Amino acid sequence: MPRSARLVDLPVSVDRDLPVPLSVQLAGRLRLAMRDGTLKSGERLSSTRDLSRQLGVSRTVVTEAYQQLYAEGWLEGRHGSGTYVADLEVPPPHGPAASGPGHLTAPAGGRHRGHRETAPHGGEVIDLRPGRPWVKDYDEAAWRRAWRRAAELPPGDDPDPYGLPRLREALAVHLRRTRGIAVGPENIMVTRGTGNGLDLVAATFLRPGDRAGVEDPGYRKARNIFAARGAEVVPCPVDDDGVVVDDIPGGLRVLYTTPAHQYPLGGRLPIPRRERLLAWARRGGALVVEDDYDAEFRYDVAPLPALYGLDPGRVILLGTLSKSLSPDIGVGWLVAVPELLDAVARTREALADRTGGPAQQAVAVLLERGDLDRHLRRMRLEYARRRAAIVAGLGSRVRGGTAGLHVMVEIPGHALPALVEAAGERGVLLDSTLRHHHGPSHRHGLVLGYGSASLSQVKRGVAVLAELMGPPPAG
Ligand SMILES: Cc1ncc(COP(=O)(O)O)c(C=O)c1O
Repeated sequence: MPRSARLVDLPVSVDRDLPVPLSVQLAGRLRLAMRDGTLKSGERLSSTRDLSRQLGVSRTVVTEAYQQLYAEGWLEGRHGSGTYVADLEVPPPHGPAASGPGHLTAPAGGRHRGHRETAPHGGEVIDLRPGRPWVKDYDEAAWRRAWRRAAELPPGDDPDPYGLPRLREALAVHLRRTRGIAVGPENIMVTRGTGNGLDLVAATFLRPGDRAGVEDPGYRKARNIFAARGAEVVPCPVDDDGVVVDDIPGGLRVLYTTPAHQYPLGGRLPIPRRERLLAWARRGGALVVEDDYDAEFRYDVAPLPALYGLDPGRVILLGTLSKSLSPDIGVGWLVAVPELLDAVARTREALADRTGGPAQQAVAVLLERGDLDRHLRRMRLEYARRRAAIVAGLGSRVRGGTAGLHVMVEIPGHALPALVEAAGERGVLLDSTLRHHHGPSHRHGLVLGYGSASLSQVKRGVAVLAELMGPPPAG
């Protein structure tokens, strides 16, 4: 493996007040730095002597942390020549030719890579990371019926870039009812999901070097997609309510935002700020991309009006079945005025991009028969219970609107790696805001997902967390 000459001077720290051994904290901090790319393959780490001096801990603490990371394959070293970050490149699924640019490689800490599926003590693993819905309680009969109906139709020979008219019609009804926006099929394109929609928007409206704003902290894949299309990705600050309009940097061509339920902090953008955001977009000639990814799940009041409904000519709304049903179906939607929709459709044809017909037929059946509505009603109750269990266990530290499939739990940034590590040791998998930052944001905490753990697992996981975190700060 090529050796980099760079000797890494890491901004790591340990906290003596935490009930976690210093060596475990240090190993966790280093692991995180390797996962998020702060520490790269081939870089040389400080010697145990230097790092122990830098941190004010005994050399044994550093040696134990390094030994643990050697054992896990993160580090490698040659006797007498120092300690290096091992080759962390995860082989792409379809051979080397399929690997993308380095900055797009999924971090080893992503959901599918580098994570244990069994707890170190051999016990149950409770996954409280965000991103996945609960797919175990679907209506099997409805599912089979939908696919049987889809299979009764012959395969098509000329896929429509806008999608199946029948599904566009059904989605228009669904969006009018669930999101209160006045749309018809002429405003809808059926995509394969939010990622596909975002990519089409970027390919249509962004030229290399254009500035594209993304909330910070925000959805990492939105940043990746814009960057892959050559845009300059610009972090846009977020507070408890969502994107801070007055602090949006200048010169943006496109702004990606999650007003219904900010990802990952959970804020709901208030109406006056929505109005200001649209006024900002009109002034600067920017296009707003509204990611409505989990808007079907609200547990208190009805969702606020979508940005799209407030100014359709300025906004492209992206929706998905990934949260409401399953990401495995590969169906979502892009909503826009016909002029913008036609531009996206031209891009789609030029790129030979499409959504599969049978999946669209099956989803149309699920919508037309009310199966998706029934599923949503059931899941709303279930998710509300899980969310309530988190609030009951962690109390006032829980942030974010009563919506979606995740909450944020405020924790100082410096304490996060050790907490994530300690919970992992007890079989509870956690995610934190650190992974979602791009610029200098000051909001830190755990991002707790309750989509893929059952109610009883959520309760057990939260009990572990409450124990590790101790009582909430007074005041
Ligand atoms: C912010 C956000 N948007 C959208 C999605 C869904 O994306 P897709 O429809 O591409 O599966 C997710 C899934 O985790 C998400 O976190």
